[in-house]
Amino acid sequence: MKAPKDLKLSYVKDTVIPYMKELTKPISIGRTIEYLGGYIHSQSLASAIPPIVLDPKPWDTVYDATAAPGSKTTQIAMLMENKGTIFATDKADRLRALRSNISRLGVLNTVIKAWDAKKTFPFSYNKALLDAPCSALGSHKYAWERLTPGIVKTLSLVQKDMIKAVFEGLKENGVLVYSTCTVTYEENEGVIEWLLENFQNAKLEPINLPIPAKDGEGKEYSDIKHTKRISAKDAGEAFFIARIRKV
Ligand SMILES: C[S@@+](CC[C@H](N)C(=O)[O-])C[C@H]1O[C@@H](n2cnc3c(N)ncnc32)[C@H](O)[C@@H]1O
Repeated sequence: MKAPKDLKLSYVKDTVIPYMKELTKPISIGRTIEYLGGYIHSQSLASAIPPIVLDPKPWDTVYDATAAPGSKTTQIAMLMENKGTIFATDKADRLRALRSNISRLGVLNTVIKAWDAKKTFPFSYNKALLDAPCSALGSHKYAWERLTPGIVKTLSLVQKDMIKAVFEGLKENGVLVYSTCTVTYEENEGVIEWLLENFQNAKLEPINLPIPAKDGEGKEYSDIKHTKRISAKDAGEAFFIARIRKV
């Protein structure tokens, strides 16, 4: 957040996103002076994409519904030049990590609150990010070992409750970005198709990404092609992303 524009790090190289750098050697980022001083944060390339798709501006009010530990909240704050307002919420026991990153990185435009994302947030907002809890099959190789159809079904029901609540609180003409770090249809395109089926005023918008991605594949809606799937090979972990406007 406070990094000087000419900050040079000897252990990174450039990526397609100017402010994202790739490690050239394995180091403990969390022990570097740049990290402790709040100049840098560690995040995969894929994880940086949802805030870019949200495209927050300094005058926006953003609701980041499942925000901890705050990788995307702090990136959103940076994109908003630390102006406007972000409501960053999560479960109460997850707020410590969120607070720590927000304070370390010098974020000043964010209100942190414990909130159940399945309930409509009491303040209005014109942009929202729902980086939903998911089966994490795109980021944790051990997640496959504990996977059952029951887990995916339960998660998809939670995700539908959350996307409904977040979409209902969004101002007209506002934008919601939905993302997960998993690969199942039920948690990705399935959640978006459910939203389109239940809310006539939800419209998918095309997404242009700076990294390779595949179009999402649905069962009901041709517009589902506007959703994107990023592979772990291209971006460190697999991600699904959808951009929805409330018309
Ligand atoms: C994928 S992680 C979010 C990562 C975060 N967006 C980031 O970039 O650092 C999903 C989050 O959803 C939160 N979560 C799970 N159930 C929730 C609920 N009912 N209400 C609010 N947050 C919830 C988890 O605690 C977890 O922090």
